[in-house]
Amino acid sequence: MKCILMNKNTEVLLTEYESGLGVFTKIIEVYNIDYSPYILKSFYEKDDINNNPFRTNLSDWFKGRGIPSWRDKLDLLLHRLGIIAPSELLDKAMGLSLSDQYWLKPYNSNIEYDDINFFDHDFDYSEFMEASLSKNSKTIVKEASLKTPNNTTDGMLKKAWIIEKGTRYLLKSGYRNEILQPFNEILASEICDRLGFKHVEYTLDTYKDVVVSKCPCFINKDTELITCYQIRNNMKRHDNEEDYEEYIKVLEDNGIKDARTKIENMYILDFLIMNEDRHLNNFGIIRDVNTLKWLDVAPIFDNGMALNVPYYSDDEVIIAGEGRFFYEVKPFDEIIKIVSDLKRIDISKLDGIVEWFDDLLHQYQNITKMSDKRIHLLCVLLNRQINKLKSLIENI
Ligand SMILES: Nc1ncnc2c1ncn2[C@@H]1O[C@H](COP(=O)(O)OP(=O)(O)OP(=O)(O)O)[C@@H](O)[C@H]1O
Ligand SMILES: [Mg+2]
Repeated sequence: MKCILMNKNTEVLLTEYESGLGVFTKIIEVYNIDYSPYILKSFYEKDDINNNPFRTNLSDWFKGRGIPSWRDKLDLLLHRLGIIAPSELLDKAMGLSLSDQYWLKPYNSNIEYDDINFFDHDFDYSEFMEASLSKNSKTIVKEASLKTPNNTTDGMLKKAWIIEKGTRYLLKSGYRNEILQPFNEILASEICDRLGFKHVEYTLDTYKDVVVSKCPCFINKDTELITCYQIRNNMKRHDNEEDYEEYIKVLEDNGIKDARTKIENMYILDFLIMNEDRHLNNFGIIRDVNTLKWLDVAPIFDNGMALNVPYYSDDEVIIAGEGRFFYEVKPFDEIIKIVSDLKRIDISKLDGIVEWFDDLLHQYQNITKMSDKRIHLLCVLLNRQINKLKSLIENI
């Protein structure tokens, strides 16, 4: 299919796309490389637009916007969607997403972004939501219900975009039989609220008998998320600490205010909840897609893999967790050292939060069947991290 890769209203490049396979087989002309996905710019050579890295990275980037091969229970989801591979979905809704503004416009068509985008136009999400989140669904999703932004969600967890009173929300469940992740998202929101960290507001919801987290879309028609992974790809490689410093400098050079403080806030949160999953696609920046101006650090999102989710056992509480600092896995006690000024944190704002979390977990016990013992251990862990941070602040 001959089509134009669009960034909202701007034509980026003319290309040949192999529908179903999710592969760009030829780049015919580049119109506006500045408006291309950020990660592609470093692969672009004006005199050789079909050079392999550029074209293959275009395909990789496009596939990366779709449902990944490591999505929890992918086989079941594909069965319920009536398809063989996630790549079949990539262009079903012209590649539109709710996390950026790229789409594929068939060559010679008159379709406009304003006529089709999912920010203005409602989509039928009920079948996909059931296929993605329900434990016992027999539904096979109808072809017409595959024209949604649910085709273009990244990440491991089962999830679904829905609309409530005009607002687009992302629902996410836990991994396999794990039920803690949604609660961790809510805990993270509560901590961020209290400490004044800019974050995505997660609340709890239930879909049938599944507890899910629910957060509003933090992108609008004029913005896109560019993850740290994409930004780092365009940077020279040194070691982890130097690359982290350079990342902050790139953000500051692009006009983002208080970049360091905002990124450090994220690592403080990770320390408090022992979040192990701060990989480079779980943070980034927001860019204006019209002016290409970098607007801000993205609000903190995806905090569910915390409080020992990966290796919980009812008999023990693991206390030596490791998190991620930029692209290195390190003990939380090491990571917190990178925060330049812990004194600015008013830790008393977290008073009573352990009891609040304990209450919350008990409230949902009839659905989650979480044991009293586990709830107790989770609260012990949280309490321990808060006290550790308290003493770090006191000893400065
Ligand atoms: N509220 C939101 N608004 C817009 N885009 C979002 C929002 N939340 C998540 N996204 C996009 O969806 C992607 C997947 O979401 P998220 O990271 O929360 O899922 P996940 O399955 O927990 O991911 P991971 O594989 O890192 O565990 C994000 O990387 C981001 O691009
Ligand atoms: Mg993620």
